[in-house]
Amino acid sequence: MFYVSASSLAAVAALLLRVRAQSSLGSEDFIRFGCSQLVVERTDPLVNPGYSPSPHMHQIVGGNSFNVTMDPSTFDPPQTSTCTSCIYKEDTSNYWTASIYFRSPENGTFKRVPQKANGRMNGTLLPQDGGLTVYYMRPFGGATGINKTTRAFTPGFRMLAGDPTLRANNTKTPFAICHRCLKESEGIMGGNGAPCDRNDTPYFPKKPCPGGIRATVIFPSCWDGVNVDSPDHRTHVTYAQEGGLGALAGDKCPDSHPVRIPQVMYEIMFDTRQFNDEKYWADGNQPLVYSFGDPTGYGAHGDYLFGWKDDALQRGMDSLGKTCGSEYCDQVLTVQDGKDAIGCTKSQQANEDIGDDNWLESIPGNVVIG
Ligand SMILES: *[C@@H]1O[C@H](CO)[C@@H](O)[C@H](O)[C@H]1NC(C)=O
Ligand SMILES: *[C@@H]1O[C@H](CO)[C@@H](O)[C@H](O)[C@H]1NC(C)=O
Ligand SMILES: *[C@@H]1O[C@H](CO)[C@@H](O)[C@H](O)[C@H]1NC(C)=O
Ligand SMILES: *[C@@H]1O[C@H](CO)[C@@H](O)[C@H](O)[C@H]1NC(C)=O
Ligand SMILES: *[C@@H]1O[C@H](CO)[C@@H](O)[C@H](O)[C@H]1NC(C)=O
Repeated sequence: MFYVSASSLAAVAALLLRVRAQSSLGSEDFIRFGCSQLVVERTDPLVNPGYSPSPHMHQIVGGNSFNVTMDPSTFDPPQTSTCTSCIYKEDTSNYWTASIYFRSPENGTFKRVPQKANGRMNGTLLPQDGGLTVYYMRPFGGATGINKTTRAFTPGFRMLAGDPTLRANNTKTPFAICHRCLKESEGIMGGNGAPCDRNDTPYFPKKPCPGGIRATVIFPSCWDGVNVDSPDHRTHVTYAQEGGLGALAGDKCPDSHPVRIPQVMYEIMFDTRQFNDEKYWADGNQPLVYSFGDPTGYGAHGDYLFGWKDDALQRGMDSLGKTCGSEYCDQVLTVQDGKDAIGCTKSQQANEDIGDDNWLESIPGNVVIG
């Protein structure tokens, strides 16, 4: 959950947004929905197409056509999927991030940190089994002259946000990937303020978080208008001139990337409670490690592979402020029952223990930490 304010007015803005969400819907500038776990496995059709298993563990949601290879020029997720773990049936995109492992300071073995459902605007839980929450945002705010039009992605489009090699502050790109250490009272609603604001850190929280950890991945909002992918999966898109959350910064895309696309954002809720014993965090020890070996959290990243049916996403975005907003778009898109979304799962293609039930000797893939 996020509220559009990074200032001391956060609480007021939060209240206003909540009231709006419940009463006259449609004034918001984003759609937001839950996607349940499709599969947790070592597959990455974006960075390591053709490799099974790929080097590190991912938690994946969306259409069940997710596969080891998904060639942008031939692979058609809406055609190939028979179900989606996301709440809108038209959305067979795939969304994935790295898993987090807890490394026991006592004996060095690993367990995967479970994920949990996110909250709705009204404080109840989304019908979500693990997975993540997706946002598609247009430029926010009432400043006059802002063009709120966004152009939905074209078939084959994919992108990556964040940099798995980072282990320290990144000064080159805006603060768009972050972690929030949730208080117990924030375990459902995620707390006030904008995503990746001063309540968030690019690194892992350095203390146990009673309400769990919310990881946020904000993707770029400007596209070169030509390429559905690029060799590094990043350079065909860029952040708006004003910073990470282009949604707050209006519609100013640079000339190199002039097309304002819907800004995609993920929220991933990690249930860290079973690892919150102070003894695991003593003496500045931070026991969490990303599945690609990052013990800092700076390397957090997310992968996006567009797969909306026909023009469904465009219709949703064009209906913002009218019949769509926040968690409501049921006049434009087809909502499936939460249990059907939860029921859309896939078995692992390279079968292995992901460390949900057992303590593992190493992170799957024998990933080296550092
Ligand atoms: C992956 O794609 C191949 C080739 O199209 C197909 O034969 C296979 O059934 C797919 N696997 C899964 C698990 O969807
Ligand atoms: C390793 O440590 C964890 C927690 O620190 C514990 O639950 C687990 O049983 C330990 N495993 C062994 C083999 O001692
Ligand atoms: C919260 O919103 C959901 C979805 O609209 C609705 O089904 C549920 O009844 C609401 N719960 C409360 C307590 O308002
Ligand atoms: C807003 O941008 C879209 C797409 O770039 C363009 O087609 C439209 O004419 C613009 N609207 C205004 C009012 O400038
Ligand atoms: C990272 O950068 C921020 C400002 O961008 C600064 O406040 C912080 O101290 C830096 N942290 C480290 C570990 O360098």
